[in-house]
Amino acid sequence: MEILIDERTIAAQIKRSAAALSARYSGAPLLFVSVLKGAFIFMADYIRNVDISCEAAFMAVSSYGDSTESSGDVKIRLDIDRDISQYHVVILEDITDTGRTLAKVVDMLRDRHPLSLEVISLLDKPGRRVNDFVPDEALFTIPDLFVVGYGLDYAEKFRNLPYIAVLTAQ
Ligand code: IMP
Ligand code: MG
Repeated sequence: MEILIDERTIAAQIKRSAAALSARYSGAPLLFVSVLKGAFIFMADYIRNVDISCEAAFMAVSSYGDSTESSGDVKIRLDIDRDISQYHVVILEDITDTGRTLAKVVDMLRDRHPLSLEVISLLDKPGRRVNDFVPDEALFTIPDLFVVGYGLDYAEKFRNLPYIAVLTAQ
């Protein structure tokens, strides 16, 4: 497996992004939402670098497609455990690939009228986009490669790797 982004590089980008975010939302009711399971490690590391008051919630969605590509049919399997209308919501996502999942999740959450909504994606693969979705911030833009590690899986494996690696033939 070839390392694409190592642990130190990930940590440095998260630290930079979380410091800027902490300045942006200081004094505001802030709720981080992450989409399970891929973003759980990103969420855990990100919020530990946030130094203002915040809360965390999780959702899970399913998108029926094959094991390496989502379909447009995104369904909520686990919903956020509260009313988001009193919060500035920041979605933390592992990767923006085709853009189908985030376009749908953002639509669904906007319908609930949060005070504001932004998306921070650890990784962005703009070359794969099938719609006009653009995350507000992407920590790394990567080429069209299937990657694993740091929460991202292939067939549920490799989430435990502390770095982002390119999946090579198994
Ligand atoms: P979408 O194609 O933008 O809807 O991406 C949906 C989901 O597919 C992401 O949240 C990931 O869970 C998964 N995914 C997309 N690209 C990769 C990849 O390179 N490695 C692992 N998972 C991926
Ligand atoms: Mg995901």
